[in-house]
Amino acid sequence: MKAREKIDSRRVRAELLPEQSPELLKTLHLLTREGDLNADARRKLKQVNHLVGLVQPALDDVFERFPAPVVVDVGSGNSYLGFVLYELFFAKREAGELVSVESRADLVKRSKERAAQLGYGRMRFVEAAIDGAELPERVHLLTALHACDTATDDALVQAVRHKADHVALVPCCQAEVAQQLKDARSTVRPELLALFAHAWHRREFGSHLTNVVRALLLESFGYQVTVTELAGWEHSLKNELILGRRVHKENREARARLDQLLQSTGVSPKAVRVLLGEGQATA
Ligand SMILES: C[S@@+](CC[C@H](N)C(=O)[O-])C[C@H]1O[C@@H](n2cnc3c(N)ncnc32)[C@H](O)[C@@H]1O
Repeated sequence: MKAREKIDSRRVRAELLPEQSPELLKTLHLLTREGDLNADARRKLKQVNHLVGLVQPALDDVFERFPAPVVVDVGSGNSYLGFVLYELFFAKREAGELVSVESRADLVKRSKERAAQLGYGRMRFVEAAIDGAELPERVHLLTALHACDTATDDALVQAVRHKADHVALVPCCQAEVAQQLKDARSTVRPELLALFAHAWHRREFGSHLTNVVRALLLESFGYQVTVTELAGWEHSLKNELILGRRVHKENREARARLDQLLQSTGVSPKAVRVLLGEGQATA
């Protein structure tokens, strides 16, 4: 089936997760009033549902270990992920809280109205920038699906600071490190220069490097990290998923590898500056 194809209501069930209801998706306008699934909504639903499947072990873990787990979704937009998680994991239980963080007031307002309409009483919406958001002291799972540029760094920082047991990051566009690579051309190790001499390569390499640094940073703060694909390329161009599970207090070997990488490339993404200090690894 082609990714751009519209699915009519009779065939929609095959697109949904086993316990996912068409009613919720209609409320979210991911399904039309008639129950059809348009091509754009289908792409978003695929991303959300794939992520739900990939974080299910983390959710099972936190619901097993904690009486009232706190799940935080940052850069939540219309909170599609939050609503789907709530329906599948929170609605049938009596405890646990799902917090969505979003800076756009209009989106927060709409999500609040929808949550009230659905009776999702343990869903909370915080209108704030991710890096300034006041979160519960202890977070059990933090997710960020396509939080733009350094907003993914802010998500990572919040996860580390709130000792999230699990973290799931699907980074979006990345511009900060491409600029740092450009600025570092005179100081970076010469044999690396060809990797990002062209603007296109700088963007691609900068994005890759940023995500490698994010994974190492999580490892150095004691997370066991898995990097995998979110969904097929036909459903999302920003497709890398960084999953972390906190298993140690710290990991010095990972920190040494991170320091080495930062030294040789001369970059210092926002998460590094915030968690390790301003002077870290600028060439
Ligand atoms: C590409 S959208 C993704 C929305 C949602 N996670 C999804 O996948 O449907 C990114 C969202 O993050 C929000 N955002 C970006 N930077 C942010 C920040 N620093 N703090 C809070 N929200 C932010 C934007 O307003 C936007 O709604």
